[in-house]
Amino acid sequence: MAFSRASVRDADVENRRVLVRVDFNVPLDGGTVTDDTRIRAALPTIRMLADRGAKVVLGSHLGRPKGEVDPGPVAGAGRRPAGGAGLDREVRWPRGRRPGARMAAGLDSGSVMLIENTRFEAGETKNDPELAGRMASIADVYVNDAFGTAHRAHASTAGVASYLPSYAGLLLESEVENLDAVADEPTRPLVVILGGSKVSDKVGVIDRFIDLADQILIGGAMCFPFYRAQGIGTGNSLVEEEGIPLAAEALRKAERVGCDLVLPADLAIGREFSNETETGDLDGVEVPDGWMGLDIGTAVGRRLRRRIAGAGTVLWNGPMGAFELDAFASGTSTVAEAVAAAPGFTVVGGGDSVAALAKFGLTDEVDWVSTGGGASLELLEGKRLPGVEALNAA
Ligand code: 3PG
Repeated sequence: MAFSRASVRDADVENRRVLVRVDFNVPLDGGTVTDDTRIRAALPTIRMLADRGAKVVLGSHLGRPKGEVDPGPVAGAGRRPAGGAGLDREVRWPRGRRPGARMAAGLDSGSVMLIENTRFEAGETKNDPELAGRMASIADVYVNDAFGTAHRAHASTAGVASYLPSYAGLLLESEVENLDAVADEPTRPLVVILGGSKVSDKVGVIDRFIDLADQILIGGAMCFPFYRAQGIGTGNSLVEEEGIPLAAEALRKAERVGCDLVLPADLAIGREFSNETETGDLDGVEVPDGWMGLDIGTAVGRRLRRRIAGAGTVLWNGPMGAFELDAFASGTSTVAEAVAAAPGFTVVGGGDSVAALAKFGLTDEVDWVSTGGGASLELLEGKRLPGVEALNAA
């Protein structure tokens, strides 16, 4: 399915003030941005607009503030040349509660400013029309490049679009195209690998892809509700109890429609969630009392590697185990390496699997790495995203 929204490529922006909603909701350690992937991902749109003589007004949220947050480190990360990918221009930012109307009015063509955290305004998350109108009043054109926040119907992601000619940014467009490509006529076999700790987070994706995928491979603590649904003991493992009926339903549906839903047949276990703990390899999945499952086993790792290597399309979301502990990182690194080496079309989403790719130095080996967490899951579930729907039709 072709992307159905108007593209920033076709917008008339020369000498016009363009409000660009970006998702600079980045992890911070004190005042330092610890991962600037999202900022770098927005640079092609920003650079293209500035090069075409637009007056660029960037807006993002940062966290879920109840009071004031200092967005200084974010403005700095946008300016800093990061491996040649930096904007290499000054980014101005006004402080205060109001969205920098005066500074926006005085911008020169080709210059860039960043307004204060959009969530400093109470009306932002309520999609308040008065606030959306006020945001629109500082610009002539609106561009949404905040894919990570496109599942939120907020004033700066949705409401503002009804007041201005509204376009999709390059990142937003690529995210939707690449994630949609997994479900729309994928090259077969389509292999979906899901991990992480909760079935409830992924149940919408499981439900949709049971109908679409040739194989769904489940790993991470998410497999424990599946075992429990089959009456298998999980010892002291982390088990999302509410996930058990969801897992039971997924197993029934997979059986009914003939989807190959694969659960690990062996596990790596530990006494505690720690690198220093006593560890063991379980030839099977019944976890003894006093132990917890912390990674998939080596036999299932080999099986996953073969399946991924033979796939025409691979979607991976969620780690296979506690990869933040080196003692239990093997399953996740096996999957990351297999996805990186796969000859098919490969897409990775979800903060933890993206962090795992970065940890193993494999980010550039994957066809598409999504900057969205909740947004990518909702799109993969087949939902329409308010931040996309609000834009002008193509
Ligand atoms: C994210 O990090 O997933 C997005 O920036 C959305 O943030 P939110 O969950 O606070 O709306």
